[in-house]
Amino acid sequence: MFLGDNRQVLAYLLNGYQKSIDLIYIDPPFSSNRDYNKSIKLKNTDLDIGYTFVEEKQYNDKWKLEEYLQFMYERLQIMKELLSEKGSIFLHLDWRMDSYLRVMLDEIFKPDNFINRIVWKATNSSKSQTKGLGKQHNSILWYAKDKDSMTWNQVYRPPTKEYKARFTYNDNDGRGLYQTVPLVARGVQNTPNRKSFEFNGVVDKWLYSKEKLEEWWEDNRIHETRGGNYRKKVYLKDCDGPPVSDIWVDKGVAPIQKEAYPTQKPESLLERIIELASDEGNIVGDFFCGSGTTLSVAEKLNRRWIGADINKVAVQTTRDRILNLNSEVDFKVSTVSTNKLYNDVENESGLKPTVNLKTKLVNKELTINVVDFYSPELIEKLQEQQQDVEIQDFIQVISSVHIDFNYKGTFNPTYIQTDKIEKEIQHSYQNSGNYQVAIQLSDILGHEVLRVIKVDINED
Ligand SMILES: C[S@@+](CC[C@H](N)C(=O)[O-])C[C@H]1O[C@@H](n2cnc3c(N)ncnc32)[C@H](O)[C@@H]1O
Repeated sequence: MFLGDNRQVLAYLLNGYQKSIDLIYIDPPFSSNRDYNKSIKLKNTDLDIGYTFVEEKQYNDKWKLEEYLQFMYERLQIMKELLSEKGSIFLHLDWRMDSYLRVMLDEIFKPDNFINRIVWKATNSSKSQTKGLGKQHNSILWYAKDKDSMTWNQVYRPPTKEYKARFTYNDNDGRGLYQTVPLVARGVQNTPNRKSFEFNGVVDKWLYSKEKLEEWWEDNRIHETRGGNYRKKVYLKDCDGPPVSDIWVDKGVAPIQKEAYPTQKPESLLERIIELASDEGNIVGDFFCGSGTTLSVAEKLNRRWIGADINKVAVQTTRDRILNLNSEVDFKVSTVSTNKLYNDVENESGLKPTVNLKTKLVNKELTINVVDFYSPELIEKLQEQQQDVEIQDFIQVISSVHIDFNYKGTFNPTYIQTDKIEKEIQHSYQNSGNYQVAIQLSDILGHEVLRVIKVDINED
């Protein structure tokens, strides 16, 4: 997981991840000509503290067209280098930039590697703000690194009532309800090089081989219509639902009603994409990861993942989201600067928060008390924004506490609190020994402080 400009992150990854990423999904700024803010609430709502918000700018989405195109071009080119031979990329945009980027992707990936322009219903509101029709959809452009080697799995929509209602026939042979589908080529399938042959006395351009048709006929899987035509029986029990096409308006991928992070996408949308174009164990990348939807779904679906975002709150949200899913996941948050990697976020400029901790050890029981926490950058932000906020209790500005009670150099927190922050935390050790305890606290804008303390547990 990287905190920083993805241009540098991508360039850094060229050193070890060239041709290794199997699926990239990105949901970059749409050039929407607005700034996205997230309301950040001071914690501990028991206290009535009047103004409880700081508006921390999440990201700016105001561009000149040529700047936007240059920004995307540089990044997409490197992403192509990072994709494996079986890899593909999904680029999520809306009406503003989708056509420009379609042309750009044709240039970078070549028109033959175009797979689909997916239309996703991004909002339930169909009303237009101006003249013209309501803009309800986003476009997701899908390109393969190499169409012939690309990973792809057919995905099905959950069967709807209307879909099930199409299965009306029943032979009472235990196979249940079925519908029928054509066996002969018509319309686009009726290509000039398709040959006619005879089956059951009918000469036509059959879609399947004569052997297959005879096998199905023997097995009572071919339906004869009143007009004497043959159609294939398709049983409801064998159908997962209608195959997903390039129009995604079904409830299975409904837009989020209330976003926790601005422009957050639904997990179900990412589930569909990840299942379509990757397999378990594959590497999934999202270099505009926001709140970490892609990475969190990748983790759930047993994919490996790489993520980046330039925004601290985004990275913090992603980190907490993944750790809440599984606190054992082994990952680091790193920053990249001019092609050098920093393995923790310690090396950044700016003033870090300070924390005052007191610890008490009784037998094998460790108690950690958070006595004070002060974040100079947060206070500065509040003042900059002339927010007349009086912080009555320092606990209100702490957004998360992560503790690794047996820290050995790699931070693997087993205590994760992002909701109700406690000032007193207890932990029982099973075995005696010399331990290091790493305690990381973050303020509500994502500024972090890490403290490591030593604890010696004796036998009695
Ligand atoms: C549309 S949001 C992504 C939302 C995400 N799909 C989700 O479900 O939460 C775009 C993200 O791109 C990030 N971003 C913008 N420019 C960036 C850059 N140059 N490098 C890395 N991240 C960037 C923003 O901070 C923002 O979080």
